[in-house]
Amino acid sequence: MNECVHVALGERAYDVQIGPGLIDEAGARIAPLLARPRVAVLTDETVAGLHLEALRAGLAAAGIEMVSLALPPGEATKGWPQFTRAVEWLLEQRVERRDIVVALGGGVIGDLAGFAAAVLRRGVRFVQIPTSLLAQVDSSVGGKTGINTAQGKNLVGAFHQPALVLADTAVLATLTPRDFLAGYGEVVKYGLLGDAEFFDWLEVEAPAMAGGDMGARVRAVTRSVQMKADIVVCDETEQGDRALLNLGHTFCHALEAATGYSDRLLHGEGVAIGCALAFELSSRLGLCSQEDPSRVRAHLRAMGMKVDLADIPGDLPDAAGLLGLMAQDKKVVDGQLRFILARGIGQAFVTSDVPGHAVHGLLEEALAAR
Ligand code: GLY
Repeated sequence: MNECVHVALGERAYDVQIGPGLIDEAGARIAPLLARPRVAVLTDETVAGLHLEALRAGLAAAGIEMVSLALPPGEATKGWPQFTRAVEWLLEQRVERRDIVVALGGGVIGDLAGFAAAVLRRGVRFVQIPTSLLAQVDSSVGGKTGINTAQGKNLVGAFHQPALVLADTAVLATLTPRDFLAGYGEVVKYGLLGDAEFFDWLEVEAPAMAGGDMGARVRAVTRSVQMKADIVVCDETEQGDRALLNLGHTFCHALEAATGYSDRLLHGEGVAIGCALAFELSSRLGLCSQEDPSRVRAHLRAMGMKVDLADIPGDLPDAAGLLGLMAQDKKVVDGQLRFILARGIGQAFVTSDVPGHAVHGLLEEALAAR
């Protein structure tokens, strides 16, 4: 059942291996990268409780010793204090230039550990073992690493590609339904941005996938990673088309800021709502048919996901307030907001040419329906 996607980035090329049971086989899979049989693992306390012993056993099976540091779970970890702690711990553990750092966890751990590896001794290699669906299909692939600061999310970081990604689809069974569906927001994004057939397939198979069908899980993660790899290979440092991966994210980032990055709205939930809004905006601008946003919304609803602003609990700013938050997005270029819009399902494109009043009108109506 195992799949492998090769990310063809020349001397920074690597494999993303996908399938159930990869943590048990981690030793044999990581061994070819090692100069000596020892790795340093960064994880969080929740993931450590679930998967760290399995990783220790998987590494030991190939004679690899492991030291580990478990950071507190949650987005608040992705800042200077825990980053400093992680880097100093890696130095205390005498991680050398030719050693490997392993990131075992979701997006927070992957981003922080990747950034720590990027700066440690001016750069050591790292392996991603993503344990959330979101991390398996998005954040563990493509080399974006970093931390948040008081000024905003992901504003300090580096492009640092992993040396290997092991996406063990068996660990997805330990996610809460809410976290699984939030990750699914990123899966559906791939179909919507560039592969209408994948979206057709998801409409039929995603309920079984959410229910635990392993074949469907492997296929969905593999197709998502393949699409991400194709885009990253063309535009590693986001000078152009990589921005397509941000479908739904301009709306999402404003909604996350408005809800204080709290569990009122998970990132993947914001992506799903943002994708629905991006298709609605595309339809209003005459770029795609009215049926497209209806189909997007119907699928998200059928999956039991958040679709509308009305699905976000608590107060939200008014339309002008949300537009103001969008203007702080780091994808603003020369003061111009960049949107990812679509000419149909699977046909997204990047544009700065969106009239502000159209966005304002859309948000006003979406807020009024709350
Ligand atoms: N998550 C968007 C990117 O990796 O470019």
